[in-house]
Amino acid sequence: MNMSANRRVVSGMRPTGQLHLGHYHGVLKNWAVLQHEYECYFFVADWHALTTQYEDTSIISQSVLDLVVDWLAVGINPGEATIFIQSRVPEHAELHLLLSMITPLGWLERVPSYKDQQERLRSKDLSTYGFLGYPLLQAADVLIYRAGHVPVGEDQVAHIELAREVARRFNFLYGREPGFEDKAEAAAKKMGKKNATLYNELRTKYQEAGDADALDRAKALLAAQQNISIGDRERLLGYLEGGGKVILAEPQSLLTPESRVPGIDGEKMSKSYGNTIGLREPPEEVEKKLRTMPTDPQRVRRTDPGDPDKCPVWKFHLIYSSPETRNWVQQGCRSAGIGCIECKQPVIDAILKELKPIRERSAEYLEDLDAVRNIIDEGCEKARETARQAMEDVREAMGMSYR
Ligand code: TRP
Ligand code: SF4
Repeated sequence: MNMSANRRVVSGMRPTGQLHLGHYHGVLKNWAVLQHEYECYFFVADWHALTTQYEDTSIISQSVLDLVVDWLAVGINPGEATIFIQSRVPEHAELHLLLSMITPLGWLERVPSYKDQQERLRSKDLSTYGFLGYPLLQAADVLIYRAGHVPVGEDQVAHIELAREVARRFNFLYGREPGFEDKAEAAAKKMGKKNATLYNELRTKYQEAGDADALDRAKALLAAQQNISIGDRERLLGYLEGGGKVILAEPQSLLTPESRVPGIDGEKMSKSYGNTIGLREPPEEVEKKLRTMPTDPQRVRRTDPGDPDKCPVWKFHLIYSSPETRNWVQQGCRSAGIGCIECKQPVIDAILKELKPIRERSAEYLEDLDAVRNIIDEGCEKARETARQAMEDVREAMGMSYR
């Protein structure tokens, strides 16, 4: 069920070096679309990077600003999305700490990425407290904004599942806010007299007669309200169904389709494989990489026929070329009618064309880093305000708001 009442999206990316075409086709193009449809919070996950990079933090500090520059260059628009840096919103850390009190160790130990990553990154000592806890930090990142949706790759779906479990446990333990009923009734009034009356009627029908249709209509009514806060919306939902206020909303993952861009060796494009095409790489370098990339190993001489299915270049044609060009490749390759350099040209042209505006825009932002810093400052302020409000509710619910 897509409870579309909650149109907020949160996602983060680690600052661990230059972005490449894989990030662009996988994550960033998706973000650029989402920003029109949702209220998006996109952040630089610098604390997350620290969980594996704690020995040498220089990559993190060098990449933070670059990451934001690249986001802006590919069209993430600070007028639509809130762009910020995780560590500049210390409320994430406070929520992480509070959630750590109620999160059973076993929940973290059984997150699949925990053992997987330790295996994969053998050269690093990842038997740390921070590394074990990082999916919980991620849960805090999401829950603090009460986001309904989180765009993530396949490998992160289990983390969002954990976030849901933690939210549920939190709400179960602390969900009944003091004075809940009065607050819910006050929230109903904020919808205006007519809507408040309708809400109360529907609520009565549902609670006294079990009328499921009335429940749906009341939910739709709440979904259509533009002027009530997320906190009030959660109260009204809880009041409607007879529970307490849901303090932490349960997020859903919004699976990012895996990037189909291969690396220049035909494997998945990834920094650790050294097969990337960087978003800011100079055109000559990009061209050189593509010209020298391997083709069908059976096609040794120009006169040998080849098989596109065994050639990494073909995977690029699948992304960048028209059906006509693909036909030309299929025929020309199998009949040795075209040479590999010839075959690569349309791919080279398409990639250079795609990268040109990105490179130009990132150069502009790099010339004016103060503007980038202003964008980040504004985003951090806005994110912080949202996070601050959530933390007030969280502290109050836990009975930790004495002074
Ligand atoms: N853990 C994510 C990664 O390694 C980054 C991340 C941190 C994130 N917090 C998040 C993603 C919250 C989505 C939502 O890629
Ligand atoms: Fe690959 Fe094209 Fe050469 Fe065929 S002609 S082997 S598809 S580069």
